[in-house]
Amino acid sequence: MDTVVILDFGSQYSQLITRRVREAGVYCELLPHDAPASQVQALAPKAFILSGGPNSVYEPGAPQLPGYVLESRLPVLGICYGMQLLAHHLGGRVQGSQRREYGRTTLSRSAASALLSDSLPASFEVWMSHGDQVESLPPGFRTTASSATCPVAAMEDPAQRRYALQFHPEVNHTEHGREILGAFLAASSLRADWTPESVVQTSVANIRTQVGSAPVLAAVSGGVDSLVAAALAQRAVGEQLTCLFVDTGLLRLGEPEQVVETLRSALGARLVAVNAAEEFLEALAGVTDPERKRAIVGEKFIRVFEREAQRVARHARFLMQGTIYPDVIESRAPERPSAARIKTHHNVGGLPSDLRFEIVEPLRYLFKDEVRRVGLQLGLPENLVWRQPFPGPGLAVRCLGAVTWERIERLRLADAIFTTELAQAGLLREETSQAFAVLLPVRSVGVMGDSRTYQEAVALRAVTTEDFMTADWSRLPAPLLQLVAQRIVNEVAGVNRVVFDITSKPPATIEWE
Ligand code: XMP
Repeated sequence: MDTVVILDFGSQYSQLITRRVREAGVYCELLPHDAPASQVQALAPKAFILSGGPNSVYEPGAPQLPGYVLESRLPVLGICYGMQLLAHHLGGRVQGSQRREYGRTTLSRSAASALLSDSLPASFEVWMSHGDQVESLPPGFRTTASSATCPVAAMEDPAQRRYALQFHPEVNHTEHGREILGAFLAASSLRADWTPESVVQTSVANIRTQVGSAPVLAAVSGGVDSLVAAALAQRAVGEQLTCLFVDTGLLRLGEPEQVVETLRSALGARLVAVNAAEEFLEALAGVTDPERKRAIVGEKFIRVFEREAQRVARHARFLMQGTIYPDVIESRAPERPSAARIKTHHNVGGLPSDLRFEIVEPLRYLFKDEVRRVGLQLGLPENLVWRQPFPGPGLAVRCLGAVTWERIERLRLADAIFTTELAQAGLLREETSQAFAVLLPVRSVGVMGDSRTYQEAVALRAVTTEDFMTADWSRLPAPLLQLVAQRIVNEVAGVNRVVFDITSKPPATIEWE
């Protein structure tokens, strides 16, 4: 498979470059700029992309271009800091600047270019985010575009297939960004052979090579990732596979049944489903602090899993997990200003490394949308594959205050009413990135029939977001909200009031706990 190596110099957009290249159907991996050369060479790359980064090339200790990039004579695209590195290492000059250019800028094409083709408008909007810029070109290069404050906004040496952009083609705010990246891939003669079929074929082959004829245990949490991982393993080594699903009692309505049905009937997998709801609720009894809830659910999950794994697959040597690429990238990225920890997002289903198993992670190189496409390719049902993200600690962090059977059931039902109505209105996939009910620990007065009630309230939360780091509340139609409120109050015992959350993130978060 033709592979591009993207070297990460610390830009906040590095992951986005990787996604865009994959979207164009070309396989690529993002590696730290100081990854050992042997690791890069093992991938046999056909081209390099150098990401942006926060440094200045002349700064002492600034990351430099690894020797193998230019020595390989392979096509290279430098973006932002990557462009400055190319200029610096090929004999051009970079100008330090105190002034930063940040945001949308008009780019004007100034010469024939392989990347900025004649089919693009003469000028268009691009996203800039830089201080330094290239002042004089390295030999062999020509300027292909400029902006008002950046005379060399794009340069290239087509004979050597070396290209550089000061702006960020990977960012959505850059018009024609995908075409520009696509033109680099075409100029590098890369085949677009990264398809769901090829991912399935490669993953199945890799699993077979890794596990041989040894027994494998797959941890299935109910989420899309672990389900797709299990489905791949079933395709690869079905006879050797046992899936273990722990029902924490904190999942959404019908979810455990759906997981069991899919694995057993649709995939024909050997599945052991353990109902541990009582144990989880006992451990959570009387706990109201959100972080304590998270810690308890995480810890309990590990213990139950260990115990059940001993029971059902004592001889298993391998453990399959649904780790995906963003987790891998985050754990080895160069220093980025790290966001303050607001909530501990440890995943339930994330198991400690001291388990006695060897780990198999077939989704280790896939982004979430790729995982979904692979799931569909493997025949998993659409409604499971397209399910919205669900926090590891489950309903425990949506049941504000004390977690009891009665309150969890109340929440589960209210949530099902909300999401069913959204799905029926066609708003669950397109209009809401995440939508759910929250049970509030407050009681308010109402009137039903002729009598006064004094019961709990449900909050409806629905947001749109691209990355879950920031989010806006979904402008849901009033008739739909009315129907949902009416159904919840009529059908869920113990709830007499429904409110709709209209805060964005920030300042609020998506979840309430
Ligand atoms: P917040 O509430 O921080 O949520 O805006 C952002 C995204 O993270 C999910 N989330 C979690 N996921 N364990 C998880 O696996 C957690 O403890 C957790 N808390 C929040 C949340 O559902 C949203 O998608």
